[in-house]
Order: sequence, then structure tokens, then C-alpha cells
Amino acid sequence: MDKLRIRGGVPLEGEVRISGAKNAALPIMCAALLTGEPLRLANVPLLMDVRTMAKLLRQMGVAAEPPSAGRMVLHAARITEPTAGYDLVKTMRASVLVLGPLLARCGQAKVSLPGGCAIGQRPVDQHVKGLQAMGATIAMEHGYMHAAAERLHGARIVMDMVTVTGTENLMMAATLAEGTTLLENAAREPEVLDLARCLTAMGAKIEGAGSDVIRIEGVRSLGGAEHHVMPDRIETGTYLAAAAATGGRVRLVGAAPDALDATLEKLREAGAEIRLGGGAIEIEAAGRPKAVSVRTAPFPGFATDMQAQFMALASIAEGTAMITETIFENRFMHALELQRLGADISIQGNTAVVRGVERLQGATVMATDLRASAGLVIAGLVADGETVVDRIYHLDRGYEALETKLGALGARIERIG
Ligand code: EPZ
Repeated sequence: MDKLRIRGGVPLEGEVRISGAKNAALPIMCAALLTGEPLRLANVPLLMDVRTMAKLLRQMGVAAEPPSAGRMVLHAARITEPTAGYDLVKTMRASVLVLGPLLARCGQAKVSLPGGCAIGQRPVDQHVKGLQAMGATIAMEHGYMHAAAERLHGARIVMDMVTVTGTENLMMAATLAEGTTLLENAAREPEVLDLARCLTAMGAKIEGAGSDVIRIEGVRSLGGAEHHVMPDRIETGTYLAAAAATGGRVRLVGAAPDALDATLEKLREAGAEIRLGGGAIEIEAAGRPKAVSVRTAPFPGFATDMQAQFMALASIAEGTAMITETIFENRFMHALELQRLGADISIQGNTAVVRGVERLQGATVMATDLRASAGLVIAGLVADGETVVDRIYHLDRGYEALETKLGALGARIERIG
């Protein structure tokens, strides 16, 4: 079980290159199932989840090797086994994104129910409801969804709540359905728009991606394409929060500032100076950050995937911050670990009241989910003494070469067995 050992107290200084977005790369990899021609991708991050998705696709008969220098070619010439088994699905919930494409391409799919995870129950009822509206029959048997459809047909689907992968699954399924599909109350996340750009390059007819109403006109078939995956806005936000927390000065290259307005606004409110230009973001944090309150919401609101990182920032800020989580029902586990480092946090329902302290003390803490781990690393970067973050396989799922990138910014951080 890998751990990270961090000796805090060093302001981060220097330049870091942002990798491709995990939450864009994963649905885009599934889009390869929609065509018998090769899909050529660039700027794909080398992450555990990307390796897992490639393995899942190979099990279906897709040619899919992990990325090399960010480049990856996926070729679903024939799909020999339209199945996503529990052994892989239980390690990566995004596996559910094969459901829509398999139904659209093969007319059948057997996909394990993902089950819950640390941050919440994570149901997929909206994915199922939408596919049924498009003519699929989906039976739940022995922990699997058995789905079938002669040919999907267009439908008007109003999502009960904003769901990112729900929107992505249905948008992919609709590209090959007969007729027009309208997705209302659709997710507006930039990763949805990046997926739509890739699908359009493959020949799909999509309007409104990035807004809450997406219109897809089905076509008979899709072709291959080339696509450059968008930068990872959550990785970007994580390094920005780390720079603000450590009082450093960092230049992020290859980032996409337009996908981060809510985070940038909150960092400015915390006292950081942020300059944009030339595809880079520069942050200069002067001294101790001011406490800023955040309330997570679907895009363009403040991202739930940035909540743990901002709780770490608030732990050492001047003043008291209210952090409210409205998307997931159990996404405060990092608060209990931050308290071990000396943070003053009290949880009241879905709000954490964080009273900033002058100093945190290093300790051994345990990562519980991907973004919680990032929050604990940020806290370790500012704590006095040594912090050991355990179970960092969570981090490896979503951050490419984290300790290498932080080390290059001056952090005293190393991976220990
Ligand atoms: C995506 O998860 C991201 N994952 C998550 O990032 C992110 O936290 C989340 O969107 C919210 O932005 C990927 O894109 C691979 P949702 P997703 O469906 O799609 C409820 C990370 O750290 N819901 O938007 O699974 C659900 O329980 C990960 O990279 C239903 O009730 O999230 C939640 O409360 C963590 N029924 C809310 O909606 C459904 O059918 C939003 O979930 C679907 C969702």
C-alpha cells in the first residue's frame, strides 16, 4: 500500500504542466465503441482509471493500449463481448459509461451495477430511465444490468437531477438512435462539451452541449476521428489551491482557465493574485489566505471535486469558512483526517464549519477517496513536520505524477512503500 511522506512548510514555486482531463478522457474512450474505425486521442493522462478503462475495453474486443506520451488509438473494429464485469466496474464507477455506446452499437449490453462508493450511494437510475425512454429494456439480475434494444429511438428526456455521466451516457446512445433526442436538465460540465466535440468529429449531430438542453439527431453510423483531450480543470484547481495554501507563486501551463471561473473567483477572494494569458494561469499568494466559504453546485457553480482541497485551504486560513456539499451525501471524510492534523472543523449536516488555525501539525492520515486524498496532501504541504498520507492508490486514479510535479515545485514529498 503506497504512502506519501511530506515535510511541510515550503511555499510552492515554479512551473507545472497540467495533464489531460480524466473526466473527459474516460467518456471519450467509451465513444470508441460507437464506430468500427480508429479513434485517435492526444493529451490522454496516464492514470490508473485510464488503464482500467483500456483494460475494460480490451475485454470487449477493442484494441486499446494505455497512452504513450499522451497518445492513444482505440479501435473497436468488432465488439466480441458487450460485457463490463464486476471485477473492473467495482474499481471504477465510470465503467457505466460503456452502457449507452454498447446498446447503440450492438443492441445489447451486460454491465455490472457499480455499487456505492465512499462518497455516496451513486445510483444510475437516470442512465436507466433515459435508455428505457429510448426503447431499451433493462433487467436487473444478480447485480448486473441486462440491456437490449433492436434499435434505439429518439426521445425527449428530462433528467430528474443534473448528472454528468448520465448526460454523457445518454448523449452517446442518442448519436446512433433513430430520430432526435432532447436531453433537458443536462449537465453543463466542460467535460460533457469535450465529449460532444469528439462525437461531432466522428460525425454525430449534436447541438447545445455545454448548456442544459442538448439536441442529438441520430445518424446511421459514426466514423473515426482525432481528438485532443481538454486540460484537467480539477488538477488545475488542485495545484492552485496548493499554491494558495503554501503562500507560493506557481505558473500552470496547458491549463484551461475558462473552465474554472468559480474556483478562480474563490482564490482571489482568499487573497491570491491570479493572472491569465497565453494558455497559462499564474497565481501569487501573499501570506496567509483569508477564509472563504463555498457551496458546491453543478457547473458553472463551485465544483464538488474541489471541495476537499478548499477545506484544506480553509483549515489554515484567517477566519471561519462555511463549506457546504450539495452534490454527494457523504463527502466530508477528509474532515476527520484534517482534524488529526489539528484542523478545527465541525460538521453540521451537509455543512462543515472550518475555523482557521495558525499552524497544522504533521501526522499520519488516511486517504478515503480521490479528491479527499488531494486535500490531505495540501494540508501536509503546510503542516509543521512530517505527514504521511496512506492508501494513496486513490490519488493514482486521478493525478498524473503528483509527487513528481509537486517535487518540481519545491515540495519535500516522496512515495514510500
Ligand atoms: C461525475 O460523477 C464525475 N466522475 C465525478 O468526479 C464528479 O464528482 C461528479 O460527476 C459531479 O461533478 C466522472 O465524470 C467520471 P453525477 P457522476 O451523476 O457522473 C446523483 C472524481 O473525483 N445521481 O453527476 O457519477 C448522484 O448520486 C469524480 O473525478 C442519481 O441520483 O456524478 C449524485 O448525488 C468523483 N442518479 C448527483 O446525482 C443517477 O442516475 C450527481 O452525480 C445519477 C446521479
